[in-house]
Amino acid sequence: MSDRNAENLAGWERVARSYAGAEAVEEDAAMRQRVRDRFCERLHGDRVLEVGCGPGTDAAAFAARGLRVTASDYAEDFVRVVRERYPQLDVRQMDMSRPDLPAQSFDGIYGFACFIHLPRTLSGRALSGLGELLVPGGLLGLVLVESEKGIREYTIEGWGGDPAVSMLFTCYTQPEIEQRLLAVGFAEVCFQPVRSPVYDEMPRLLERGIRAYQVFARRPLLSSG
Ligand SMILES: C[S@@+](CC[C@H](N)C(=O)[O-])C[C@H]1O[C@@H](n2cnc3c(N)ncnc32)[C@H](O)[C@@H]1O
Repeated sequence: MSDRNAENLAGWERVARSYAGAEAVEEDAAMRQRVRDRFCERLHGDRVLEVGCGPGTDAAAFAARGLRVTASDYAEDFVRVVRERYPQLDVRQMDMSRPDLPAQSFDGIYGFACFIHLPRTLSGRALSGLGELLVPGGLLGLVLVESEKGIREYTIEGWGGDPAVSMLFTCYTQPEIEQRLLAVGFAEVCFQPVRSPVYDEMPRLLERGIRAYQVFARRPLLSSG
C-alpha cells in the first residue's frame, strides 16, 4: 500500500464511527437516490460490488431493490458498522487499489466519493483491477470530483473533526479520467453532473471550486486483447 493510501486508511479507521453516526442518515437523500437510479438504469444483471461503501447506506439501498450486493471498504471499522447495521448484507474488507475477488463475478461496480481518496499513482492499477471483476459488458459507476480552479489534489488536516487525521482528495477532470479508463480497457465512457443543494454550498468545496460528477464506463463485450 502506498504511504498516502495507508495514511488515509489510518485516518478513516479513526473517524469511521463518528462519520457513520448513530444511525444511517443521508445528507441529501434525493441526490443519493438519483445517483443510484442512474446506475441501476444502466446495469444489466443483478450482481453489484460497492467499493468504499463506508457505513453501507447505498449497499443497503441496492439490496432493498433486489440486487445481489457485496459491500466493501478497506477500513475495518466501516466493515464492522455495516455488519452491525445490515447483518443480511455481504460485506468484506477490500482495498480498491488491490481488488481480490474472483474475475468476472460482478455485473456492476459502484463507488460514491471513495475513488477520490485514492492517490493518483494508484488509480490505473485500481481501475484495471476493478475492470477484471466485471463480466464483459459490466458497468463501472463512480462519483468523482473536479475543480473549476484546476486543483488536482488537496489534503484536509483535521478531517472528521480529528486533529490527527490528514485526508487526501484527488480531483479528475473528465478528459483525464476518460483517458485513464480507456487506457485500461474500458469503453462507452459517459458523464452526468451530480448537483446537490447540500454539497454545492459547502465552504470547503466552494473555496476549491469543487463539483461532483458521475462517470460510467463499461467493460467491452469483445476484448481486443
Ligand atoms: C467519503 S467516504 C464515502 C463512503 C460511502 N461511499 C458514502 O458515500 O457514504 C469514503 C470511503 O472510501 C473508503 N476508501 C477510501 N480509500 C479506499 C480504498 N483504497 N479502498 C477501499 N475503500 C477506500 C473510506 O474508508 C470511506 O469509507
